[in-house]
Amino acid sequence: MEVIDILRDVSKKIYENVKDIAGTEDAAGNFGRGAGGDISRNIDIIAEKTVLDYLKAINFECVVLGEECGRVQLSKNPKGFVIMDAIDGSANSVRGVPFFCSSLAFAPENRLSSITDGVITNLTNGEMYWASKNKGAFWDGSIINVHNKDPIYKIVGINISGANLELMKKLQPIFEKHNHTRHFGANALEMAMFARGLMDIFIDLRKKIRIQDIAAGYLIVKEAGGLLLDENFDLLDADLSYDTRISFIAAANQTILDDIFSEIR
Ligand code: IPD
Ligand code: CA
Repeated sequence: MEVIDILRDVSKKIYENVKDIAGTEDAAGNFGRGAGGDISRNIDIIAEKTVLDYLKAINFECVVLGEECGRVQLSKNPKGFVIMDAIDGSANSVRGVPFFCSSLAFAPENRLSSITDGVITNLTNGEMYWASKNKGAFWDGSIINVHNKDPIYKIVGINISGANLELMKKLQPIFEKHNHTRHFGANALEMAMFARGLMDIFIDLRKKIRIQDIAAGYLIVKEAGGLLLDENFDLLDADLSYDTRISFIAAANQTILDDIFSEIR
């Protein structure tokens, strides 16, 4: 079985296992702080267990880097890392806001740039986005590309959850000039939707995003033809450590990038 098929298969199982509990009391619970630093909820635990059980059952030789469970080595000679955010958008999933997903990626080496496969599943409807290196990006079987045309409405995605005053001041000209700024609360699903062409740019300059929140989106955006840069406008890359926190810009093309950033430089 190809790695991408394993990730797609297990993503479907997550969807089956959590779709009826999101937004109910069963989604909540407090299991203490997970490896990523947030409180682990019941829905997070159920989704992660689905993945761990599945990978063990098929003897997939890997190290799992889970947002809640931390580093779990599943064999003596692992072939690489499964980077798992089993529920991205946990707060939405617990409250029943219909915008959350799972994000799974595989990397043979300890770097984002080595990721070969990524799958993001919208857990509110089962829609799946995926990519394998140099093979393009897909949404439920159709090839997807970033929105590389002059848009009718320019949609500017900006993650501002917990942003400090300094960053809000810096971003203020964007909010003032653009009537269609958006922030939905699940970074991975926002990256997938950006890759599908539903937004023209997606910006997160908070230096808070974890590897788990970005790994699958990283490959899907790249394979869909997007520019993926860090806060210094260099190509985004990072190691897979639990301490790594990232800022990033996903832009459909150089024109929209220049357009937006000329407003805040
Ligand atoms: C969160 C979401 C959210 C982003 C947070 C992340 P989680 O992931 O991606 O959009 O603003 O920084 O922590 O905690 O729900 O997996
Ligand atoms: Ca999570």
